[in-house]
Amino acid sequence: MLNIAHRGASGYAPENTKASFDLGIKMGADYLEFDVQRSRDGVLVVIHDTNVERTTDGSGEVRDRKAAELLKLDAGSWFSPEFKGERILTFSQVLDRYNGKAGMLIELKSPSLYPGIEQQTAAELAKYPLADKVVQSFEQESMKNMHRILPDVKIGVLMKFRPLGISSAMLRDISEYAHFLNPSKKLVSRALVQKIHALGMKTTPYTVRNREAVSFLKKMEVDGMITDYPDYINEIR
Ligand code: G3P
Ligand code: CA
Repeated sequence: MLNIAHRGASGYAPENTKASFDLGIKMGADYLEFDVQRSRDGVLVVIHDTNVERTTDGSGEVRDRKAAELLKLDAGSWFSPEFKGERILTFSQVLDRYNGKAGMLIELKSPSLYPGIEQQTAAELAKYPLADKVVQSFEQESMKNMHRILPDVKIGVLMKFRPLGISSAMLRDISEYAHFLNPSKKLVSRALVQKIHALGMKTTPYTVRNREAVSFLKKMEVDGMITDYPDYINEIR
């Protein structure tokens, strides 16, 4: 059962910062999940929202701000005063600091806003061992492209809740290039997990925030869970 710390141990520390990633590792996470976007001057940065307002003391869109400006913002105080001074990290800083300490589930967030981000991500990733790296996105075209550019890195497709579920045709199409299909936990059933496995893929649903979800997903026989609370997953394995 893979234990994947969602934006780090983001239930306990400000998401996508050193504080949350360090704590995720301390709590036994196998992988760190985080979100990659790009600054105005072309630097890949790790932040979830497409603007900086919720998680920093700044304002505006990530893509309109230079990296030097983004990296000066306080990305900790919004969560709690004890985290004042936590910073937005660059993708390169995260690779450098955590490679070899945990696997990485790297989400390209809204990649259609950032033409060429797949190529740029591949160029940075290619300097590191790829066996414990996965690149994922909600945007399937971007992931097909990522697979073409860097076939050695595993690909994940994220799937939001859909009232009608996922068709067999869509599952087959995704299995042509992806190793993981990572759905919202609301989409998960044992039948879906079996179909994913039958197509040779794995599934690590998101986002687990309580023990009821842990025990439900365990029963569904998923391969791992993307969680704000990595300690909850350790309790069941
Ligand atoms: O990795 C799954 C999860 O991160 C996808 O949703 O909005 O938290 O990036 P979000
Ligand atoms: Ca994410």
